[in-house]
Amino acid sequence: PLPPVYRTPLPLPPVLKPISTAGGVDRYAVTQREASLEILPGVRTPMWTYEGVFPGPTIEARRGRPVTVTHHNELPVPTVVHLHGGHTTAASDGYPTDLVLPEGWHDATHHQHEGHAMGAMHDPRAVVTKLTRDYTFPMIQRPTLLWYHDHRMDFTAPAIWRGLAGLHIIRDDAEEALGLPTGSRELPLVITDRAFDGEGGLSYPSLDPDLRSRPGVREPYLAGVLGDVILVNGAAWPVHEADAARYRLRVLNASNARHYELEAITDDGRRLDLVQIGADQGLLAVPVTHVTLPIAPAERYDLIVDLSGVPVGGRVRLRNRLGSGRTREVMAFHVVRKAPDPSRIPPVLSHDLPTWDRSDAVRVRDFSFRAGRMHGGHGWLIGGLPFDPARTDVTTRLGDVEIWRFIADVHHPVHLHLVGFRVLSRGGEPPGPHDAGLKDTVSLRPGESVEIIIRFDGYRGRFLFHCHNAEHEDMGMMANLEIV
Ligand code: C2O
Ligand code: CU
Repeated sequence: PLPPVYRTPLPLPPVLKPISTAGGVDRYAVTQREASLEILPGVRTPMWTYEGVFPGPTIEARRGRPVTVTHHNELPVPTVVHLHGGHTTAASDGYPTDLVLPEGWHDATHHQHEGHAMGAMHDPRAVVTKLTRDYTFPMIQRPTLLWYHDHRMDFTAPAIWRGLAGLHIIRDDAEEALGLPTGSRELPLVITDRAFDGEGGLSYPSLDPDLRSRPGVREPYLAGVLGDVILVNGAAWPVHEADAARYRLRVLNASNARHYELEAITDDGRRLDLVQIGADQGLLAVPVTHVTLPIAPAERYDLIVDLSGVPVGGRVRLRNRLGSGRTREVMAFHVVRKAPDPSRIPPVLSHDLPTWDRSDAVRVRDFSFRAGRMHGGHGWLIGGLPFDPARTDVTTRLGDVEIWRFIADVHHPVHLHLVGFRVLSRGGEPPGPHDAGLKDTVSLRPGESVEIIIRFDGYRGRFLFHCHNAEHEDMGMMANLEIV
């Protein structure tokens, strides 16, 4: 039976403590291991976790202060860690074949690659393996909400589904001086959907339930895997006891394939404004007010919702207009007390957004995101090709500004590693209100064309761009970007 809605208190992911802060670097250690967690009340769910919790522990970083995370893999399969939205060198970016091996995997690795769907896995250049791995994040970027998640070749979607995802927040003094809601009035909300079997285990239609050799999902799930239970911070349809005050909601859609359109609605049917202050890559220039807000997999929205007009005892539900039945519900705020509110939403939030213009672009590239054939079966293709680690799809120069034009068949949330971009147009029209600010993931809607403008700042090396419908990503919808 499905759990009740709006009974379980909203959990908050624990903040990870550094093992050292010496030398101006924050060092962390994370063990990836199996754990049995109470996701549904009174039921144990076996999961794959960072540090035994889901979502994984949150890393709190300061702008300009490097972070090193040593990952140790105690799971039964290799893993890869990627910091989504991080401006990270290629060596620490979690390329899908830069594996963190579990103890004792050495022999299995060789056999695993025989008969592997991806011939390029034989390319020794493409496979870099270790037993533990240090990931270094310079943190030279705008403050924002990032997330880290698994990125292993062919098996990203089931690994994230099993629990390998966590938050990584960057802060700085300028943002903290704005007077936004803070402390207990700043809530990270990691929204995911999951399906469960009769015993409380996670249900996922993998072809290989051990995720060792054969990638892919069963035929009816080629478009992406959806669950019928909505989790926020790992709890099903939770409720948060709130003050009648402003809240800052740091929303991440960490679902594999589900899109949401959020609205905040009072018991008497009034919709509260969702005031957007930030996008994937940090604060907007000025706030943008939404009544409903679409959010695609991997997108983040930094929102202020004002509960001060809600009477004590009243409730505000965060709902999903794209859902039906239970998947229309997400979470609720139960207003339990009046309280002073020193917070404000400043009319100007930031001054440092890039102002690239079409005339700054030195080239324009076109990419289609469409279904097709790959290795004799169904695939999801970029520019007609499935992912191949041995092929360079795009070569660009560090510092160049480019316009990329995308066209989609069905819904594809497109993500670029390393860089932030701005949306230039959507469906031939100026971008929508939810396209504001600096982004790293843009939602292409069915049949839609989208133009983005990017400057390839940061680091030289091999990075990725891909669809962040995690099943599409595993089924080929990924490409290499070489910055020279
Ligand atoms: Cu969220 Cu390639 O990643
Ligand atoms: Cu896609």
